[in-house]
Amino acid sequence: MRLLVTGGAGFIGSNFVRLMLESHPGYEIINLDRLTYAGNLENLAGLENESRHQFIHGDICAVEIVHRILGRGVDAIINFAAESHVDRSILDAQDFVRTNVLGTLTLLDGARRNKTGRFIQVSTDEVYGSLGPSGSFTESSPLAPNSPYAASKASADLLVRSYHRTYGLPAIITRCSNNYGPYQFPEKLIPLLVTNALSGLPLPIYGDGLHVRDWIHVRDHCNAIDRVLHHGTPAEIYNIGARQEMPNLEIAKRILRALGKGEDLIAFVKDRPGHDRRYSIDPSKTERDLGWRPSIPFEQGLQATIDWYRQNPAWVEHVRSGEYVTYYERMYRQRHRTLSEL
Ligand code: NAD
Ligand code: DAU
Repeated sequence: MRLLVTGGAGFIGSNFVRLMLESHPGYEIINLDRLTYAGNLENLAGLENESRHQFIHGDICAVEIVHRILGRGVDAIINFAAESHVDRSILDAQDFVRTNVLGTLTLLDGARRNKTGRFIQVSTDEVYGSLGPSGSFTESSPLAPNSPYAASKASADLLVRSYHRTYGLPAIITRCSNNYGPYQFPEKLIPLLVTNALSGLPLPIYGDGLHVRDWIHVRDHCNAIDRVLHHGTPAEIYNIGARQEMPNLEIAKRILRALGKGEDLIAFVKDRPGHDRRYSIDPSKTERDLGWRPSIPFEQGLQATIDWYRQNPAWVEHVRSGEYVTYYERMYRQRHRTLSEL
């Protein structure tokens, strides 16, 4: 099977590429990534000589690149590529609409024209908006996105739906809760708090710190996508989550405890505008229909993640200093395929 994975140099995409290569020895992966600030070839270190993995530096909005790749014959597309950070979308939403909406549309058109097989759209629970103190999002919860990021992801979901209804494209949407784990860019809550705590820097907590997120280890998310890819039903939506809700302040306290640091490092800062109060995902349908279960308890996953950041200071340093771009240039020169070689 040949897969096109987009955004495979990012956090979840790179974990997914590793998982697929490990668990499906016969599979080939074409990894298309624009290498924005969030894309990092160090996330794929060790795969330089893996003949089943081909990295292509390119944009999912580029019609010609997408068309050439799909024209070579691809069995399925898994679309991770996105602008993914809510705070950045609040500052400027242009790139979010371009990549998350127009990029997804370009892939959908490519899939339709080339009669590619399954199209898996990796979406998010944020499309459902915010919850009060009780209840959980199901697949039939209404779309009510509150940030420009969430609105761009919801727009993409609607396009995916329409391509199934209009053209019969075998497309499936997954909506997952907050991921954590190795290779996550330290602008997101958990890696930011861990790397700051390791450096003795303040841990910024928005507002009162009682906003609740529902956490899942990235490995569990990737396993769920593997299930959806192989056993999901076209046109369906699958929620993915691990029933692990926690207020942000509690996460900060746990990280400090695990690192033997004092709570005086916690710094309450100005709240995020439009900050969603609570997310909670009900993954029952995915569990029931696909036989998937999350397997990493939060306590264990958080400790493993803290250990990973502690044991990979070079990765953290390169990301913080922007030096990972140099690594990228080295690897890119060796592995880059020009358009004419596609
Ligand atoms: P990320 O920001 O770490 O990675 C995104 C990747 O996409 C980067 O490698 C980047 O270079 C690439 N990219 C961006 N624009 C591109 C373009 N125009 N063309 C090609 N590549 C491009 O994001 P992530 O956290 O790994 O999230 C991956 C996907 O999962 C996103 O679609 C996101 O919406 C979704 N998601 C994330 C979470 C989470 O908690 N992180 C939860 C649910 C869903
Ligand atoms: O729910 C899935 C979503 O989770 C994904 O779709 C997004 O791509 C991903 O970025 C994430 O969005 P969040 O906004 O929930 O994640 P973030 O790590 O930015 O923030 C998590 C919570 O922590 C949120 O309530 C805001 C808060 N926060 C965040 C940062 C960066 C802080 O209190 N301080 C911070 O410095």
